[in-house]
Parts: sequence; C-alpha cells; structure tokens
Amino acid sequence: MQTREGERERGKRKRRMSSSFWTFLFVFSSLAIYSEGLTRHYKFNVVMRNVTRLCSTKPIVTVNGQFPGPTLYAREDDTVLVKVVNHIGHDVTIHWHGVRQLRTGWADGPAYVTQCPIQPGRSYVYNFTLTGQRGTLLWHAHITWMRSTVHGALVILPKLGVPYPFTQPHQEHVIVLAEWWKSDPEAVIREAMKAGRPPNVSDAHVINGHAGALSTCSSSSLDGFTLAVEKGKKYLLRVINAALNEDLFFKVAGHRMTVVEVDAAYTKPFSIDTILLAPGQTTNVLLNADKTAGGRYLLTASPFADSPLVAVDNRTATATLHYADIVSSSAAPAAASALTTTNPPPMNATHVAAAFSDALRSLNSQAYPARVPATVDRSLLFTVGLGANPCANCINGSRVVAGVNNVTFVMPTTALLQAHYYNLSGVFTDDFPGRPPVAFNYTGSGPRNVATEQGTRLYRLPYNATVGLVLQDTGIIGPESHPLHLHGYNFFVIGKGSGNYDPKTSPAGFNLVDPVERNTVSVPSGGWTAIRFRADNPGVWFMHCHFEVHMTWGLKMAFIVDDGEGPEQSILPPPKDLPAC
Ligand code: C2O
Repeated sequence: MQTREGERERGKRKRRMSSSFWTFLFVFSSLAIYSEGLTRHYKFNVVMRNVTRLCSTKPIVTVNGQFPGPTLYAREDDTVLVKVVNHIGHDVTIHWHGVRQLRTGWADGPAYVTQCPIQPGRSYVYNFTLTGQRGTLLWHAHITWMRSTVHGALVILPKLGVPYPFTQPHQEHVIVLAEWWKSDPEAVIREAMKAGRPPNVSDAHVINGHAGALSTCSSSSLDGFTLAVEKGKKYLLRVINAALNEDLFFKVAGHRMTVVEVDAAYTKPFSIDTILLAPGQTTNVLLNADKTAGGRYLLTASPFADSPLVAVDNRTATATLHYADIVSSSAAPAAASALTTTNPPPMNATHVAAAFSDALRSLNSQAYPARVPATVDRSLLFTVGLGANPCANCINGSRVVAGVNNVTFVMPTTALLQAHYYNLSGVFTDDFPGRPPVAFNYTGSGPRNVATEQGTRLYRLPYNATVGLVLQDTGIIGPESHPLHLHGYNFFVIGKGSGNYDPKTSPAGFNLVDPVERNTVSVPSGGWTAIRFRADNPGVWFMHCHFEVHMTWGLKMAFIVDDGEGPEQSILPPPKDLPAC
C-alpha cells in the first residue's frame, strides 16, 4: 500500500524530469512485484544553460538543463545505468557520492582516480548496483569545480515491499542546499590559484536552486522554494548539502525534525530543531506538520564555521513551508497569512553543531546491524590541514596548500585505477605514510617548517583488512574543520575529541556498539575523529576533504585495496566504453 504510493509519487517526479521513453521504462519496471533488483536507465545530457539568480544571468553547466540536477530514483538491489553525454566544451565526470560501487570502481567517477574524463562530444555509461544501502545520497561532477552547478539527489528506496523502519511519511521531498556565485566558479578558483590565495566566497546559499526572500533582489516575501504540506500529515525531507566549501545548518521555523537516516544508513531516531550537514553529507528527517492550517513557516540554510581565520559566505538561504488552507484546501499560499520566522544559529555555534553530531547513532537493529570491526589490522594516523609552499609568482611569495600527513597530493594524468589494474608503473607509488612523518603538537603552535611534500602516493591495504584511522586536524596556518569523504566505503565514526588524539587515553571513549555509519565525516576544528572500516571492496578509492577548495589545494589521497583470493573478491574488468585519457 505504502510502497505503491511511493511508486506513484516517483512516477510523477520522473515524468517531470525526463523523456517519455524513460518514463515508459520506469513505469513498466515499477509494476514488477518481485523484489529482485531491476535495471533502471537514465540519461544525463551535460549542457550549458543560462540561469538568472541574484539579478544577473550567466551560463552554467547543467545536467538536462536543470539546477539542481534531476533526482535519480532507484531501489536497493537495483542496477543503475546512467548514460552521461558530454555536450559542453570541457571534460566531465560524474560521481555517485556514497554509492559503495562493490567491485565496480570504474563507475565511481573521480577524474584521474577511477577514470579518465569524458571528453567533449563523448559519452560514458556508469553501470553500478545499489547493494546494502537505502536512503539519500547525491551525485555530482568530480572534476575541477564543476560540481557547483552539476549535482543532484540520488534516492535509494528500500526493496519493494520492505517498509521504512520508521513511520511511513505521507510524502517525500528532496531539499538540495548549495551555493551560488555571480561569477564563474571555475574562474574564481583559477584566479585564487594564480595568486596562491583563498578563493572568493559564494554570493548566496540556495535551497533547491533559490536564495529565497531574504536575498538581495528578491521581489516578494514569497520568493524561493515552497514546500506545501497538509496539517496532520508526516513528511520525509531528504536534505543534501551539495555546497562546495561550507558546512550548513538547516532549520524549519516552529517545527522540530526527527532524524532517521544519514548518508544512506538508518539511524536511531532523535528529535532536534537544527541539523548540520557538511558538503557531501545527507540527512533524512521526518517532519510532523502539526501547526496551523494556512500558516507559513520559514526554512533556513545558514553556514557553520567556527574557525575565525576562514572567510565564509554568511548569507542565509530561505524557503517556505506552507500549510494548505482548510477552507480552500488549495496548496497555493495565501499571501496574507503570517510568516513564522526563525533565527539561524550564529555562524560559530559549535555547541549547536555538536548537539547534532553527538546525537547520531546507527540504528543497529536486527535487520540493520552495525558491523563495527572489533579489532583493527591497520592502525593509521593521518593529519589533515593546511601548509604553505614557496611560490615566486604568488602575492606573498608563497601559496596556500593542504595535505594529508604532510603530502600534497599531485593528480596524475593517467587514471589510478587503470594504472593499478594494468600494472602500469610510473603513475603512482604505494608508499603513503601511515603516520605523520614528524610528530608535533598538531593542534598547538605547529612546526616551524610549514612546507609540504608533493606526491602521487597511495596507501595499500590487503583485501578484508580492518582499518582504524584517526583523522587529526592541524593548527598550521589555522585550525579548521574538514569534512573527510572516503569513496567506495561507509565507515563507523567511533570517536572524536578536541586537541591532539592520545593513543593511551582517547580509545577509552570509543563507541564500538552503535556508532553512526557514514561516508563523510567532519574532523572538528582543532580536534580529531576516529573511524573504522573493513577493506572489503577492492579497487582504488579516493579519500579527500569535501571542501572543494581544500581538495584543489591537495587535501586528498587514495587507498589501493588489493583483490582477495575468492571468486567475488576482485575488481571487475573495465567496461568497453571507459574513456581514454
Ligand atoms: Cu562527493 Cu570525491 O566526492
């Protein structure tokens, strides 16, 4: 019953977003009643499109002309084939952020890591199966800063007939948070790199593509995205932070939210009034529409940044929740009805951020157990942070860089996965350090020498090894939070703390029972985070800060996970249409 409701809803959305051919396929496949995975076909045409925001118009890169891009719907166990056709003048790749890509690293998407880019005029079919995951993820371009406009939701519904482990919502809505630059973001980072300085911050935040009524040049208090609700019903909001460089708070005036899932893994439900998402993170919340019929309530997305040295876009994006009028029962907002507003948290509200992240726990039920590795085969400590290297042509004679264990990652010109699969030498080395080369007071005054080394160095893991990884922020130049994203895996966030990780005392606080499972976690500013995962997915897997500026500066590395001996423990062969460099 509920499931069919969902299918109908999906059918509706799908019709809105692409051709009738795909609709036909989709509706056809939705009629199946067995729970074997289906194959879903999508076509992503990468095209330029003129878009007007903040009173000015510019061409942006889009998928199918949409900003944000189309939502990709599928069910757990489905195989998804997305044909990406590059109609623009630049190289393109698309990453399915958080999809585990078991043995299918060729479909992961990061440029020069798992594939060479799709060149202008070419296409590539991303082919992957959604295994053991359900919830909300996102897809985005994974080359230069293209993901600023090339991103969208990826919704994994439970297998047909399998209910959510929480109250079935009346409706579901995708809410994509992002940034907007008046100029071309590619030019913004190009200029910054030339000067060796941080790039300009965005000109606005947006909710489903719109800055809202508080933005400069909004013409009416009704501007922006509108979410229609009916009194007495429950809604599932699938919230995504697709921003490049900022952690975002999300609030709904007058309503609390019940968190039920993050990064496509169910959580123990808890009620809270403000959620926090780092770039690349997703959160599903239930919203109980229990307020006044005809009423309007503000939704806000505002930045979180507790590092005083870092410039951020401090503007709040808004949208409106409005209750249908009882009399007309129409979804159209009554312009006269009062708007209930809310103040976003202060930008540096560390306690609001911690209240959310400290409450997160895996659901850890019989059906959805948390399989936390009890012991670790590899115990790693990675520092993450900034540095400065000499640069003759830069403004200060030096350029800001970033790194992991003091290595600034250099992108290769051959894809790493191909180099690994075909045993090509000279592309990378597998000597990435498992510990910082020099131990120092990481979050204190730091070392005298803040220069980094450069290299395309990878860390090799045997198949099925259990890995304990402590991510330690440094105070070099300034402490700052870093949302670390690992491709190909979910990990358990077993602990975090401020200051330096202490191997003697810190593990006492580890949660090995029901830690939250995710694919992206924020290392707190001036602190550390400990994660664990099992290396059961062979391939080459990127790990990087999901602040795009830090990624550009070199805060990235990759793991090679060797094939196992068993029949299903090796990388599948590359597809025939894998792009060449
Ligand atoms: Cu969402 Cu490697 O990124």
